[in-house]
Amino acid sequence: MKKYTSFFLLVIVAIACNNNTATKTGTSSFSITEKKIGIIDSSVITEYTITNPDGMKVSIMNYGGTVTQLFTKDKEGVFGDVILGYDSLTGFLQKGNPYFGCLVGRYANRIANGNFTIDGKTYQLAKNDNGQSLHGGIKGFDKVVWNVEKQQGDSSLKLTYLSKDGEEGYPGNVSISVVYTLRSDNALAISYEATTDKTTPINLTNHCYFNLSAGKDSTILNHSLQLLADAYTPVNDVLIPLGTIDAVKNTPMDFTAPKLIGKDIAAVKGGYDHNWVLNKKDSSLTLAATLEHTASGRVMEVYTTEPGIQFYSGNFLDGTLQNTKKGAKYVKHAALCLETQHFPNSPNQPNFPSTILKSGAVYTHTSVYKFLVQ
Ligand code: GLA
Repeated sequence: MKKYTSFFLLVIVAIACNNNTATKTGTSSFSITEKKIGIIDSSVITEYTITNPDGMKVSIMNYGGTVTQLFTKDKEGVFGDVILGYDSLTGFLQKGNPYFGCLVGRYANRIANGNFTIDGKTYQLAKNDNGQSLHGGIKGFDKVVWNVEKQQGDSSLKLTYLSKDGEEGYPGNVSISVVYTLRSDNALAISYEATTDKTTPINLTNHCYFNLSAGKDSTILNHSLQLLADAYTPVNDVLIPLGTIDAVKNTPMDFTAPKLIGKDIAAVKGGYDHNWVLNKKDSSLTLAATLEHTASGRVMEVYTTEPGIQFYSGNFLDGTLQNTKKGAKYVKHAALCLETQHFPNSPNQPNFPSTILKSGAVYTHTSVYKFLVQ
């Protein structure tokens, strides 16, 4: 009898560990917990929370590979959630959810007139934004259910998705993997990989909306931003790059030294929503941006292997989103996105770095969002 009792105890402990595993590394430990938060098209939607030894937490769900919560410390050591989001899955499913926290693909940002030509063949995508294609189309990677596997060590999740040939009008079966890792130095690293069986454009990113005040400031106009970029790609009135790469010097686009976002924003029609051309010559992982919120002491550094970064100052937020976290009103400029990427409309702009992936090649991209206090 005793033998059976211990056997059942062992099974119970094993099940408990499987749902909430903790790996000890010396005195430190990482853990991953899981919570079922709904069902979409008969797929169970699960939110995974990774905690690091310092207590920093990131939650990610399989719907859209979306980062739903990101708790970081302020200068007093108090944790706060620094990204916009919702109180439940319902919020993410509402019409007009502006891509909160999700993975974006097959092509982040815009493709002019929703079309491009590869090897003489023109592909037409849905025009889901002022006659242009935006963020992968009607059902982009932000609206699909990803497969999620917890990785050894309990600090990483590997998300995979197979985008079929013709999905949203794009050519080729594309196999994507995205690894989210919460590091012990309070950084969230995102590593993307993709392969295809037919030539296709690809441009993947994450679309977190940051406000480092963690709910205290209603806008990010008081955050200071530095971008390691001497140039940007100016756009037309539907936000398609003109094709030129212009210097930021002596313009409101100049963030080469730390500057309050609110300082020059009124001089930019509609607010900031542009691609900055990073000062880098290769695809090494280098610092691209530093965001700082003085009152909380929170600082976020963004590192990337990508050539560009879209700084979007939350211009289209208008306070109407429902089911927001704690019922917050997400007003214009409530948060900002720093989307590491290749330049918008590159498939139609031969002078921009290429976004074309061929069969046999591997697309790779790593970006790191590191949190500090000062
Ligand atoms: C990106 C675009 C913006 C807007 C947001 C989503 O950042 O550049 O124009 O479409 O996504 O609302």
